[in-house]
Amino acid sequence: MPRSSPAGSTLPRLSFADTARVAAGVFGPILAQGVIVRRPAVVGLAERLDTHRQAARILGDLRERYGRGPVLLAIPGRDLAVVLDPDDAARVLEESPHPFTPANREKVTALRHFEPHGVLISDAEHRMIRRPWNEEVLDHREELHRLHQHVVRVVREEVAGLEGLPVLDWDAQAAAFWRVVRRVVLGDAARDDHELTDLMVDLRAQANWAFLRPRSTRRLRRLGELLRRHVAEAPPESLAAVVARTPGLPGTAPLGQMPQWLFAFDAAGIATHRALALLAAHPQVLAQVRAEDPSAHRGLRPTARATVLESLRLWPTTLTILRDGVAETDWSGRTAPAGTGFAIVSSYFHRDAGRLAWADAFAPEIWQDDRAQTSRAIVPFSAGPARCPGRTLVLDVTSELLAATVGRFDVTAVPPVRVRTGGPVPRTLAHTGLRFRLTPGA
Ligand code: HEM
Repeated sequence: MPRSSPAGSTLPRLSFADTARVAAGVFGPILAQGVIVRRPAVVGLAERLDTHRQAARILGDLRERYGRGPVLLAIPGRDLAVVLDPDDAARVLEESPHPFTPANREKVTALRHFEPHGVLISDAEHRMIRRPWNEEVLDHREELHRLHQHVVRVVREEVAGLEGLPVLDWDAQAAAFWRVVRRVVLGDAARDDHELTDLMVDLRAQANWAFLRPRSTRRLRRLGELLRRHVAEAPPESLAAVVARTPGLPGTAPLGQMPQWLFAFDAAGIATHRALALLAAHPQVLAQVRAEDPSAHRGLRPTARATVLESLRLWPTTLTILRDGVAETDWSGRTAPAGTGFAIVSSYFHRDAGRLAWADAFAPEIWQDDRAQTSRAIVPFSAGPARCPGRTLVLDVTSELLAATVGRFDVTAVPPVRVRTGGPVPRTLAHTGLRFRLTPGA
């Protein structure tokens, strides 16, 4: 039974039984799938068990029994609160980095394996320098990234290279996607240079075991050397050249920001593969993507972008957004002491059927008429001052990729078809199990 606490006390703490349910049914599956790099076998199992539906049920039940405010897990040595209300989730993100720092304890422990100087895990002083630099290089405030023309060319060439492929499965999609990423980030010559991206995978695999593994200083040093070389030799049309041309202040650590970008592009590949499944099951939207003329939309591809955003709403790739309170915070009369961690389980809010008429539907229109933006806690790229500064570039690359693929090929999902026309969209979807037949001549 929930314990009741008088006003003025700390946040309610879950019973041990409820903590065990949250651990097993909410965070267990998230950790098991791999927070930093996904484990394909577990991702498939999560789909079969429909773990996101189970997690949403548990969180909804806690909200009914403990009330809307955040609730603390009963774990020794750590005050970790689960956010249950969309307004609270929005507040935590809006009030970042103070009093809610993105450099949360668990995140720092994991990410320091490959990006010890990344803005996401930086202290307040370094964040003030690193955040604006990231925003500038990534053209965060623009609709399209300055490398847009290069992105369009690279994507077209790589999509043309898919011709003759018997089936576009996850491995083929990821291989093509990383060729695009390497050409955009490092330049055309790095198209097949796997050393850097393979090293990132190794370091991220270590980060999955955050607390249990020591940092590999040898690999980290090698990562630094490779990044330094790529930036020094960057061809003008590459993100590395933008890095070289954008001086930072002392403490920026420009090269130290790049591992987060390479890590995060993985999510963009996953989102694109799932977006393709949405289009394959919704021929009318697919036809719209095909027919859309970017020159009529300031170079943008509105329907393709909305499809990618829907893919990320329906199946967020950042499964939990974490913050730590750096000061005591007030929650309608209850307090959370400084040092309390806050966990926002995005899929719970993105699929809140009690609040969102389109919770379990494929609804790209919500990104075009601002319904997504005005609904609280629809946060695939987070929100507030620490919102993903890579959003512009991500949507640029992924919408071009999606449009180029359906523009060149007829796309048919290969059985077992996981996303069907009409009806609800599955809560948990293993990107690793999606396969498509691409027939030239669309
Ligand atoms: C589909 C792809 C992506 C998604 C869904 C995504 C989502 C997010 C989210 C949710 C956060 C906040 C994380 C947190 O607060 O713990 C974040 C942070 C960040 N992302 Fe992305 N991201 C993506 C790709 C990228 C790419 C490709 C880049 C760079 C090229 C990038 C750069 C960053 C940076 C630098 C931060 C840290 C921001 C800060 O701490 O102020 N992201 N991203």
